[in-house]
Amino acid sequence: MVLSSSFRTLLRLNRQSRSGQYVALFPNWNRAKSYYVTTPIYYVNSVPHLGHLYTTILADASCRWEKMKNVNSTFTDSKLVTGTDEHGLKVKQAADAQQMDPLVFCDQVSERFRKMIKVFGIDASDFVRTTEQRHYEAVQHFWQKVEENGFIYKGQYKGWYSIPDEAYVSESAITLEKDKISGETYRISKESGHRLQWMEEENYMFKLSAFTDQVREWILSDSQRVHPVKFRAKLLHELQTPLEDISISRDVSKVPWGVPVPGDSAHRVYVWFDALVNYLTAAGYPQVNGTTYSNMWPADVHIVGQDIMRFHAVYWPAFLLAAGLKLPKQVVVHSHWLCDNRKMSKSTGNVVDPFETALSVTPEGLRYFLLKQGVLGDDCNFSEKLLYNGLNSDLANDYGNCLHRIMGKRLNPLKVYPGELVGTSNADHAIDDDSIKEVIRSVQHLAEEIQPYYRDFYFYKGINAIMKVVQLVNIMVTKHKVWELKRTDSNQAAFLDTVLYCSYEAMRVCSILLQPIVPELASFALSKLGVPQDCRGLDDAMKSFASLEGGQDKMVGQPLGHDMKPLFRRLELPESLTTKQSQAQ
Ligand code: MSP
Repeated sequence: MVLSSSFRTLLRLNRQSRSGQYVALFPNWNRAKSYYVTTPIYYVNSVPHLGHLYTTILADASCRWEKMKNVNSTFTDSKLVTGTDEHGLKVKQAADAQQMDPLVFCDQVSERFRKMIKVFGIDASDFVRTTEQRHYEAVQHFWQKVEENGFIYKGQYKGWYSIPDEAYVSESAITLEKDKISGETYRISKESGHRLQWMEEENYMFKLSAFTDQVREWILSDSQRVHPVKFRAKLLHELQTPLEDISISRDVSKVPWGVPVPGDSAHRVYVWFDALVNYLTAAGYPQVNGTTYSNMWPADVHIVGQDIMRFHAVYWPAFLLAAGLKLPKQVVVHSHWLCDNRKMSKSTGNVVDPFETALSVTPEGLRYFLLKQGVLGDDCNFSEKLLYNGLNSDLANDYGNCLHRIMGKRLNPLKVYPGELVGTSNADHAIDDDSIKEVIRSVQHLAEEIQPYYRDFYFYKGINAIMKVVQLVNIMVTKHKVWELKRTDSNQAAFLDTVLYCSYEAMRVCSILLQPIVPELASFALSKLGVPQDCRGLDDAMKSFASLEGGQDKMVGQPLGHDMKPLFRRLELPESLTTKQSQAQ
């Protein structure tokens, strides 16, 4: 193939910035041989809502990314673990309110979370329920280790407890509030706003106070340990005050619904001590096939909402240290979702039901919205306007239309991946065009650009970069009015094929990189483009325009897929939005 000199220069310039800085920019490039990411296990006292889905999708996107990054390497394993937290007072109270046996109640609600996993395409490798036998064994074994190591003692616990948070609250974190109607004064947790109850009973206590320094050092030893930095700073500030011992059991007469304390059936294990161990349960703790569980532990990342950061980044490392186990590598924390800028709550009636929303915007549409709109360190806002307008603009107009435009029969009658004619004189002329140069340049940098974004859970930045490329393709295609070019004229045909080749390459790379975000849509687009299943890894997105560099582009000449369905149908606006919009006019 003859290559124009302008094209060669362009490609060389683009490559220079890629290879040299590679290792320095991405020290973790070869890091993972396996990857283990977790979501919190969700309380079954209520059904899945948008917040639960968001955490789970973050974990899924991250796990899919790790898989596609390592698809062609010696990468061994990649696991996403989620599940349900089924013990404790609030679950018991919810079951009682329905006059149901707690286990039957848990079975029902847990199933709804499993359904969420399925509907939203979460690639979970395990689903832990804390009422499972394997989990009981893990919790009891873990307790015994901590006890053997001398970190559990029996003591009188006196203090304030929040049932909705299943947490003990220290004096400094309490404030007084007056009931507007009865005038009664009561204590609430400053952090969650939940009302507190006085608790006084003989409990097993955990020597959390022994771990203030070690927990602080663990956080300090890696700037990414607790991510993002806003939450890390908050924790380090809190850790300036020495930790106090905490109760890790409840009297069976008060909380019968839990794992029995080993050797003392008059007590049940505190629900958080129990729940956190699920991360070990999934790793096969205490044993896998008669050998130690260790190959999955420690976890690479625990993803949690800010409300439970302290449990994961203070209590959990302390428990693990006490049991003599390794600590997780990272805790990633996200802020909360609001609905129309207000806290979601049952009483306000603005809790977003993910299943209902997905019925109108599709599960992939909701995935896309959450990952594009969600920013780790800031509260995220859900609004129908943002949802519908965003999906119509990005998925229906930009991505969907672009794909549709370049794949029509008139432009590509042979229905094969284009590219053969580049190198002819008219193609040279094409490469001097700014809109084409811009597409080539941005496609060649895209995979490299988004790696730190995806690695650090800034998926929205990755999405924005990808959509920018899609927009550039649309600009290029519109500018050159490709639909007016005639195949019967050899010069015009060469030009057309050059523009098409650039468009297909762009859409191929963009779709590969969208797989962690919208796996089904991306896979649909890749199949339309005729990209084989084994050519969809990060490596494949790193290579583009191969035939222009004198190499063999294995895509060129490949038959396209047959499915001509639109990628994403334009959404009809719900009545609430059309009324608002017509009122505004
Ligand atoms: N069962 C505990 C976790 C134990 S993990 C060992 C628990 N469960 S929960 O059902 O309350 O779920 C909490 C998680 O759901 C939060 O940490 C967060 O991940 C997610 N969210 C709940 N509400 C949320 C929002 N409004 N917005 C975003 N996520 C939130 O705590």
